[in-house]
Amino acid sequence: MKLKKCLPIAVALLSVCLFSTTAMAASAQDQVPAAAKSATNPVDSEIDMKHTKKKLYKRCKNCHGKKGNGKTAAAKDMDVKPPNWTGSGSKLTDGELYWVIMHGSKDTEMVGYENHKKKKKRLSSDEAWTLVHYIRAFAK
Ligand code: HEC
Repeated sequence: MKLKKCLPIAVALLSVCLFSTTAMAASAQDQVPAAAKSATNPVDSEIDMKHTKKKLYKRCKNCHGKKGNGKTAAAKDMDVKPPNWTGSGSKLTDGELYWVIMHGSKDTEMVGYENHKKKKKRLSSDEAWTLVHYIRAFAK
C-alpha cells in the first residue's frame, strides 16, 4: 500500500485510541460498588473539628487544601484534579466519599487509606467516616 493511502487509516486508528483512553478514565464516583453508595455514616456528626483537622485531615491537606477547595500547589501537576468541596459541596453520597477515602481512585493521585502503604497513614473505619463529616463542613 502506498503511504498516501495509509495516512488516513493511521489517523483514524489514532483517533480511536485517543477516544477510548478518554472514555476509559472512570470518575471516582463510578468506581464505587453499588452497595457501598448508600452506606450511612455511623459516626455522630458532632465531631471534634480541631482534632480531626490536626490528626486526620493533615494527611489530605497537601492536595485538597486547608479550605477543601482543591486549589493547591500539589494539584497543579495532576491530570485529574482534587475536587472542590466548598460552595455547594460534593455531589457524592456519604457512602461514595467514604469508599473513595478507603479505596482511592484508580489512575489518580488519590490513594486508598484503608491499606495505605505507609502504615502510620492508614485510617480506621471510624476515622474515615469522621473525615466524611469534615468534608461536608467545607460546604456552605
Ligand atoms: C496526593 C494527593 C491527595 C491526597 C494526599 C489525598 N487526596 Fe483525595 N483526591 C485526590 C485527587 C487528585 C482526587 C480526584 C480523584 C478523581 O476525581 O478520580 C481525590 C478525590 C477524593 C475524593 C472523591 C471526592 C469527590 O468529591 O469527588 C475524596 C472523598 C477524597 N479524595 C478524600 C481524601 C481524604 C479524606 C484524604 C486524606 C485522608 C485525601 N483525599 C488525600 C488527591 C489526594
